[in-house]
Amino acid sequence: MNQQEVKKIYGRCSSFYDKTFSHIFFPRIKIGMERSGIRKGDRVIEIGVGTGISLSLYPLGCHVVGIDFTRKMLDKAQEKKNLHRLDHVELIEMNAENMTFEDNSFDHSLAAFVITVAPNPEKVVSEMKRVTKKGGSILIFNHFSSKNPVLAGMNRFFSPLTEKCGWRSDITLDLLSNHCNLQINEVLKKNRLDPYSIIIATNNK
Ligand SMILES: C[S@@+](CC[C@H](N)C(=O)[O-])C[C@H]1O[C@@H](n2cnc3c(N)ncnc32)[C@H](O)[C@@H]1O
Repeated sequence: MNQQEVKKIYGRCSSFYDKTFSHIFFPRIKIGMERSGIRKGDRVIEIGVGTGISLSLYPLGCHVVGIDFTRKMLDKAQEKKNLHRLDHVELIEMNAENMTFEDNSFDHSLAAFVITVAPNPEKVVSEMKRVTKKGGSILIFNHFSSKNPVLAGMNRFFSPLTEKCGWRSDITLDLLSNHCNLQINEVLKKNRLDPYSIIIATNNK
């Protein structure tokens, strides 16, 4: 998927995104946030913040910068920020693959259901590592392709179809641990059969 395709798909689904996905994504983000170590006074960047499903979960007193490259998704997040007076949240239209922040600008970073959507997921993770301080936590929520060879083959087979819906099904956890050299501390699941994983990593730089 290229950037234009992703923006088109998420621009179109921004109006019904929350009704469709909020009940799936919110509980999983909540589990990860509770384990994140994000505290009052911390600076946090959320990559691909979308409509801002996660925003109410950040502790008051931390500063959150949410970025996304799809304007219409960000507009929905802005509505939540205004409605709930989330003054500690800043929203910026930006590509996560090429962020304008200085190195080590944030204590923690988070990407919920973005890695399988981004045109260049490795670049996104590399940018998350760059802008996050050494030792800070990096939280990634996503579906990852199965380790079972048969299921992995199905994930690869169906990926061209899932891409039409705005996400790839063929991304493996190996991308994070090996290609991106991420120090993964925990892989959590809401329940044993949950297709989504919650990755708690430490920024080893
Ligand atoms: C499936 S949505 C997830 C939104 C939100 N994180 C959530 O949990 O509901 C994926 C979002 O990632 C954004 N996105 C994908 N690649 C991006 C990139 N390279 N830079 C910025 N935003 C990106 C899309 O625009 C979309 O809003």
